[in-house]
Amino acid sequence: RDAAIVVELGASAEAGTASDASAEAGTDTGASAEAQRGRRAVPDGVPASDDRVTWVGLAAAAPPADRVIDVGGRAVVPSFVDSHTHLAFAGDRAAEFAARMAGESYDGGGIASTVAATRGASAEALRARLAALVAEARAQGTGTIEIKSGYGLTVADELRLLRLAREVTGETTFLGAHVVPPEYVGRADDYVDLVTGPMLAECAPHARWIDVFCEPGSPHAFDGDQSRAVLLAGRAAGLGLRVHAGQLGPGPGVRLGVELGAAAVDHGTHLTREDVDALAGSTTVATLLPGVEFSTGSPYPDARALLDAGVRVALATDCNPGTSFTSSMPLCIALAVREMHMTPAEALWAATAGGALALRRDDVGRLGIGARADLTVLDASSHVHLSYRPGVPLARTLALTG
Ligand code: NIG
Ligand code: FE
Repeated sequence: RDAAIVVELGASAEAGTASDASAEAGTDTGASAEAQRGRRAVPDGVPASDDRVTWVGLAAAAPPADRVIDVGGRAVVPSFVDSHTHLAFAGDRAAEFAARMAGESYDGGGIASTVAATRGASAEALRARLAALVAEARAQGTGTIEIKSGYGLTVADELRLLRLAREVTGETTFLGAHVVPPEYVGRADDYVDLVTGPMLAECAPHARWIDVFCEPGSPHAFDGDQSRAVLLAGRAAGLGLRVHAGQLGPGPGVRLGVELGAAAVDHGTHLTREDVDALAGSTTVATLLPGVEFSTGSPYPDARALLDAGVRVALATDCNPGTSFTSSMPLCIALAVREMHMTPAEALWAATAGGALALRRDDVGRLGIGARADLTVLDASSHVHLSYRPGVPLARTLALTG
C-alpha cells in the first residue's frame, strides 16, 4: 500500500487551528469538534499514487503511519483555489497603474497594449513568464489555479495561450471575448462571429471553460446579447460557463450567468438587488476579486449583501497586468476581511472551498476524506493570521512526499 503519513499539529497548538480551518473550509471531518478539544485536527494523508486524504481526526486515534510530520502547532489549511487569473501575457502596465493612482480611471482600454505585447512575444517567453507567475502563486499557498486566454484575440494567438496554460493547469478558460481587438473596432458583432465560430472551434479542445467580459457600458467589452451568444456557443461546444460581470457598472452579466447556469460570475463590484436575489438560491458562485478594487480604486463589492442573502462567495486574485497584478491569495483574504467585512473564517472558506465550488470541483479546497492531500501550513497558530498579519509570507506547501 501507499505510505501513510500523519500530519501532527502538536500539543502546543492554540485551540481551534487546523480543525477550525478545515471545518470552516467546508470539510466533512466528523472529528473536528473532538479535535478542537484534543490535539487538534490531524489530516492523515495517504499520498503517493493519488495523494488523497484517507482519514481525519485526533492523532492519538490515527491509524498506523509510516511517517509522522509534526508541524509544531501551526495551522494547516487546504491549499488555496484561485479560480480566476489571466496569467498568459507579456509585458506589464505599471505606467497605467501609476496614472490611475494620479486620478485616471480604468475602462479596459489598456488591455489592447497587453494584447500587442503578447502577440509579439515568443512562446518561450510566454511560457517562462507563466511559469514564474504560477511559481509565485504556489509559494503563497495556491494549490489549484484557473488560467484564461484573452490577450491573443486571433485564432492562432488564443490557441497558443490556451496550449501554454494547459501545460500548467487543467482549469483553462477560453476568453476570446475579452475585448474587441483593434482590427475589429467598430465591428464588434463581426468579432463575436469569429469568437463563436472558428476561434471557438480551435480553442474548445484546449479549454474547460468559456468566459466573456460582459460590460455594456464599455466601448471595449461586450453587451448582454453578444455575451449571451458567446456563452451559448461555448456551452454548445461542451464548455462550462463563467462571466466577467458588473466590474465597471451594473449590467446584465450576473443575471445572464445565473440564467445560463454559469459556474461563477466574477467581479460583482457593482451589484443590484436583482443580481443578489438572482444569485441567492442559484448554483452560481459570486467570485469577488478585491485585488481589482485595490488596484483600480473602485469601491469594494458588497460581500455582506451576498453572504447575508445566502450566496456562495469565492475569492480569487484575477492576476493580470491591468487591474490586479497580484498572485497572492493571502492578500485577497486580508482585503476581504478588512475592506469587505468578511470574517476571517468566511474569507478562508471563500479562498478554498468557494474557489473549488466556482470550478465545480470537490477534490480540492477542503481537508476531508477523499480530497486531494494538497495542504498548506501557515507559519502561524491560526488561519486568522492570514488577515491579521497582512503582507507577511506565512504559507508553506506541506510536502508529503520526498
Ligand atoms: O478581469 N475586465 C476584464 N479583464 C481583466 C482586466 C484585464 C486587463 O486590464 O488587462 C479583469 O479585470
Ligand atoms: Fe478577469
